[in-house]
Formats: sequence, C-alpha cells, structure tokens
Amino acid sequence: MDITRIGPRNGEIEFVGEVSGIDLTRPISAEQATAIEAGMDRFGVLVFHDQHFTDEQQVAFSLNFGELEATLANLTKPADRRLKLNIADISNLDKNNELLARDDRRRMFNLGNMLWHSDSSFKATPAKYSLLSGRQVPKAGGDTQFADMRAAWESFDAETKALIEPLITEHSLIYSRGQLGFTEFDAEERRDFAPVLQRLVRTHPVTGRKSVFLSSHIGVIRGMPTPEARMLIRDLSELATAPAFTHTHRWRDGDLVMWDNRTTMHRARRYNDVGEIRDMRRTTIAGAATVAQQAA
Ligand code: OGA
Ligand code: MN
Repeated sequence: MDITRIGPRNGEIEFVGEVSGIDLTRPISAEQATAIEAGMDRFGVLVFHDQHFTDEQQVAFSLNFGELEATLANLTKPADRRLKLNIADISNLDKNNELLARDDRRRMFNLGNMLWHSDSSFKATPAKYSLLSGRQVPKAGGDTQFADMRAAWESFDAETKALIEPLITEHSLIYSRGQLGFTEFDAEERRDFAPVLQRLVRTHPVTGRKSVFLSSHIGVIRGMPTPEARMLIRDLSELATAPAFTHTHRWRDGDLVMWDNRTTMHRARRYNDVGEIRDMRRTTIAGAATVAQQAA
C-alpha cells in the first residue's frame, strides 16, 4: 500500500493523499488499518480508486475505524429509505430508484450539501470520519471539494487566533438550510435539529494540531450579536476555503473518498440532479468528544 500526495494542486500543504495497492472490498489486516489511520492523521483526506463495494463490504471496511453513527440526518422517513444498512443515502434517488422531483422537499433539503460543512457538526458528538463511495457518478459536474481547517487555522494572524480561540458556536441543520431559504420544518424536525454547542477551535486528539471548526451549520456564537457572529463566520470561511487550502475531487465509478471531519470541510458541486443519477453512499464513523471534552 502506497500513499502519494495529490492535492491541493495549487498549494503546498499535505492535505489529500491517493492510496494505491489495496483492495478494500476484502478484509484488511490490522497493520493496513493502522497505516490508513496514520495516513488520515497526516493528510485529512484519502482517495482510493476502483473499490466497487457492496453496502455490506463498505460497512465492514468502515468498522476498522470505529462505530458507525447511529442516526442519519435527512428528511427521509424510515419507511421511505432506499438503503437497508446504516448508510447515509447521498443520492438523488427515492426508494424505487427514481430521480427526486425538482420540488421534492428531500431534494431541496439535500441541496444544502453544496454549502461548506463538516458532517454531523449539528450533533452533540460530531463525526470522526466519513467514507463516501461513488457507485454511479454523473457524466458532468457533481465534484466534491475539500478544505483543510488545520492549514486555515495556521494561516490566521495572531489577533484573529486570539479572538476566535475561546468562542463557542451553535450548529443546526436549520441554520444551514435557512441560508438557502429552506425554512419549513415541522415540530418533530425542529426538535431533532435543535442547535448543539461546538468550540470554534479544536485540537486533534492524535496529532495535537489545532483547526478551525467551521461549518455552514453555524448560526450563533455565544455572547455575540447574531449579525456580527454570522459575518465573522462568513469571513473566516472565505479565508479558510482559499484555493491553497482546497482540493476538488472529480469522481469516477468505484472511488472511495475518506475524510476526517475533525480537520476538514467539504461541499458537493452542482450537476444536473433532476436529469442524471448520482448514487453516492456514505458510512460515518462516530466521534468521541462532545464540546465540553474538546480541548481548546
Ligand atoms: C456527504 C457530502 C458531498 C457530495 O456525503 O456528507 O456532503 O459531493 N457529500 O456528495
Ligand atoms: Mn457532508
């Protein structure tokens, strides 16, 4: 197994690695799992090609890195789910494998994946890794972009670092969707999506490197007027997603991309989602630390 740095293409940082010489659809050894985890700590994003998973194989591979997150967050009711296992359906399909209609509520909600975010930052214990498998990718568009929140933190001036280091933010799916004008949530959804607290600056439990914990799910900074808070988050996000810190993944069928939500943000890019299938499936590894436990 080899890992080669592939991105950012117009930056210097070690952020995206491409892994070759391993078949993830078959059981891997403990040494290989350790080497992949070390690669994740070093890079933040790893890309594997030609991994044609079944759902069972994707879950089995994912379990090398921890437990799967228990609950999935979208607007699909259990009876309408397309996938059987504990896998997030990142496709544009309904349970009958038909394209979601343009005005389907689930489609409009899912468009929020095109905002920069970190998975499950709206949960009290945010996610560790996400593993996204490209089962059927569109001919044009639908790339995924990644941004390195360690490099972003390191690029901030001393004044900015001192300002943001102690801050506590509130994250909710209601805030990110609100930015798109999607505001109709029923009482149950409002309860499920109630804001949670996160530190704006966190320290990686293994490497000890700091990163800025940004996400479009942020709507409030504790003790700060909301317009000031949202403007600050917007400014920081603009700096943090500069080309030197970002990488664009152009999908091929069978790609697996794995990222550490504790050090990165990502977003989907536009494609013709009412005309072309994009079948992506994500397993998500649960994190360990709540806000109170996240060292600042
Ligand atoms: C995700 C996600 C982006 C994409 O799977 O968590 O945000 O490009 N995906 O589908
Ligand atoms: Mn995501």
